[in-house]
Amino acid sequence: MRFDIISVLPELLESPLNHSIMKRAKDKGLLEVHLHHLRDYATGKHKQVDDYQFGGGAGMVMKPEPIAACLDKLLSERHYDEVIYTTPDGERLEQQRCNRLSMKENVIILCGHYKGIDERIREKYITLEISIGDYVLSGGELAAAVLVDSIGRLIPGVLNDETSALFDSFQDDLLAPPVYTRPAEWEGMKVPDVLLSGHEKMIDEWRHDQSMERTKARRPDLWEKFEKGS
Ligand code: ADE
Repeated sequence: MRFDIISVLPELLESPLNHSIMKRAKDKGLLEVHLHHLRDYATGKHKQVDDYQFGGGAGMVMKPEPIAACLDKLLSERHYDEVIYTTPDGERLEQQRCNRLSMKENVIILCGHYKGIDERIREKYITLEISIGDYVLSGGELAAAVLVDSIGRLIPGVLNDETSALFDSFQDDLLAPPVYTRPAEWEGMKVPDVLLSGHEKMIDEWRHDQSMERTKARRPDLWEKFEKGS
């Protein structure tokens, strides 16, 4: 899968996407991430990428021309399945969306900044607007990193144990159950006996029960969804 990320601060994306699972995915040739500096597409002496907003008001708006120049170049080079814009007023990112996006081949992510991008770019190019939560970040780069990480890990072959993503929290509208490792007793606290029993069916049942309990207690919204679906 290929991501092209357009940003005024591509440096912000270098570290999160070059370690651990994302690095392994790239080394294995399963994931490509290309960063594009928006300023490289700006013209004029000052390579300006933002301007005052019409109608007045605090905060700058990202100018349409450099964004369009970068998008036109990319779109002329290959077919893209989605052109995503990261913005707090987008659709809230959820696991099902990540699952679907992990089946795409080429995706562009445009990172918002300042007050956002000129609305006409949204109308002309953007196919999907994504928010990673109801809070405002200083820019869309961290949201883009969240997108690439949450989608990239789902590409077949990226995770060592292929089944493990299937049991992540949210995959079946339930939170993940508690996990333990050695020692079996630590500071007087014991690992639940069932996990030491070697009895696979009982362990699966215990985990499912725990997932349901956790979801019910912590995320009534998800619990309602789970109950409707099952
Ligand atoms: N840019 C600023 N805040 C954001 C958010 N919550 N999600 C996506 N992009 C953003």
